[in-house]
Amino acid sequence: MPYKLLFVCLGNICRSPSAENIMNHLIEKANLGDRIVCDSAGTGGYHIGSPPDSRMTYAAKMRGINLKGSARKFQVEDFNNFDLILTMDKENYRDILRLDTGNKYGDKVKLMCDFCRYFDVKEVPDPYYGGSDGFDYVIEILLDACEGLLDYLINENKIVVGDR
Ligand code: 4NP
Repeated sequence: MPYKLLFVCLGNICRSPSAENIMNHLIEKANLGDRIVCDSAGTGGYHIGSPPDSRMTYAAKMRGINLKGSARKFQVEDFNNFDLILTMDKENYRDILRLDTGNKYGDKVKLMCDFCRYFDVKEVPDPYYGGSDGFDYVIEILLDACEGLLDYLINENKIVVGDR
């Protein structure tokens, strides 16, 4: 069974689809496509079915990342269906934990920036109402966090590598 990652933000059109596609890019480079599966979701439902935001898509493309996907809302079943749930900011983190009414899944929910190694930040800021700089900044933070996350999964033996 592959290890399953779910990236979560508010709208699922900017930050979390970027995280998902950046992570997939790193996973492919590491030849671990059969070991780790990525998805993303939003805590809000305003953009269900929409593709990633065009400004976000442009910023990602400038770093060689192609953004794919269509927005969906987080479902309580996701707690059971995923091994690790990575939230972009503290509001997303609280909103997700609030849905865990039986207090069973807290250990699966983490802040994405906990995996940053170069950026000293706690949150991936919401770029939606700002300028293009904010979208570029999201990509830079997520590249750092995704690299840290992949190393964590390998070093903590969450995935098996090297037996092929
Ligand atoms: P995201 O960005 O949470 O990174 O996808 C946002 C997208 C849409 C809205 C807010 C944030 N919105 O208010 O519609």
